[in-house]
Amino acid sequence: MSTRSMSVAEPMPAPAVTVDSRGVDSLGVNRVLALAPAFRAAADAYDTPLYVTDLQTLDHCAAEVETAFPEPWLRQYSLKANGLPALVRRLARQGWGGNIVSAGEWRLARRAGLPNAAISFEGIGKTDEELRSVVRAAQDGQPLRWLSVESADEVQALARLCRDMAAGRHGRPSVGVLVRLNPQVEPETIAGLAVGRMSSKFGLSADEVRQLSRTGAFDAPGICLRGVHVHVGSQLAGVEAWTGGAQAALQLWAQLREQHGDRVDTVDFGGGFASGVAPAPSPAVFRQALEDLIAEQGLAVPPRVAIEPGRYIVAASGWILARVLHVRCRGNRQQAVIDAGMTELIRPALYGARHPVHLVSSRSPQPELLETAVEGPVCESGDTLGVHQLPALRRGDLVAISGCGAYASAMATRYNGRPRAAEVFIHPGGNLELAHARQLVG
Ligand code: LLP
Repeated sequence: MSTRSMSVAEPMPAPAVTVDSRGVDSLGVNRVLALAPAFRAAADAYDTPLYVTDLQTLDHCAAEVETAFPEPWLRQYSLKANGLPALVRRLARQGWGGNIVSAGEWRLARRAGLPNAAISFEGIGKTDEELRSVVRAAQDGQPLRWLSVESADEVQALARLCRDMAAGRHGRPSVGVLVRLNPQVEPETIAGLAVGRMSSKFGLSADEVRQLSRTGAFDAPGICLRGVHVHVGSQLAGVEAWTGGAQAALQLWAQLREQHGDRVDTVDFGGGFASGVAPAPSPAVFRQALEDLIAEQGLAVPPRVAIEPGRYIVAASGWILARVLHVRCRGNRQQAVIDAGMTELIRPALYGARHPVHLVSSRSPQPELLETAVEGPVCESGDTLGVHQLPALRRGDLVAISGCGAYASAMATRYNGRPRAAEVFIHPGGNLELAHARQLVG
């Protein structure tokens, strides 16, 4: 991974607006104006398609969550949204830990400089090798913050590996474990992201956890039960399911603490704060809803509380820059094929997600806007960014797609032999930094 800096010829004006946590749509227009010189310089220097991160917006979004969940909250950034080490490192400097789902993300977190003590490991499909690495890290004196377990089979597999490695015996350390609760709520999001439903593959029901507890599964040598982990879903348009999940987690935590003692000290409330869809509650509204719940229900508060958002931190700061490849008239519409598509941003094809597209190239101050179908370059009809209002376009025009900081580069594919686009940071002063070089296939 290489990094280098360059200066943008035109100084970047201060942003006209602050980031609006209710969405990037209206904000997008203003930020495009502010960032246009940097966008043009980045596209010229590093080619398109290109992922760019506006660090000023990144810092703003992270700070918003830090204010809503101040210490002693443990703030863990979910690397699955965007695991770019340079980005994780920036958040780590602000005190963020990391939440990972695989050995690969663990490596990215370490490369970003996070110590194991600031990393929690969850994930629906951990292999024996991954679990063994967690036990080994504890034995090497560098335990992860905790491991979340998702099923009875996983608890058994962990117990077996702990036995084989003599964890928790002969003075050897145990592994701190949270149980992932499936709270059986109806999250206010699209079906594909509503993981807190009972029908989803994620987590254990409270009954399953109680059963495991009764049968002594959490007393196996090497397993140190520390608490409960819950995550109801992503891109949440309301707080009901989140607080429902929180209530279920706090109740289960209290029961487990009664049975297993004070070492059961943690609840991790997951992530899920929405970005780019309006109206959606801000992180501060989620926090307030949790406080209200605790007060109304008279719930006990665990000594250790955590969140693990991904999208909210990074989505609004990320853009994809693309160039128009060809333009034609289709029906009453302008149709433009651009050089970024589902290989760089799979969200429209996968979830019907909408990411506003803006023209960066200069035009007259108020050009006529045309209904424009923006299409990707990949051999799939589903490779489309939908219909947008754009001026008349020409081959070579530069466009910017907004809300691409989360689940865009992280979900990139090489389909059609496409290169993996480079990633560039725009520093608050306007300087560009190559955070990840473009990678060609073959
Ligand atoms: N914790 C757990 C256990 C999760 O499963 C997730 C996301 C997060 C935290 C972070 O959620 P966030 O704050 O980013 O909403 N590819 C989809 C999103 C999948 C989310 C998966 N889990 C998308 O592009 O919308």
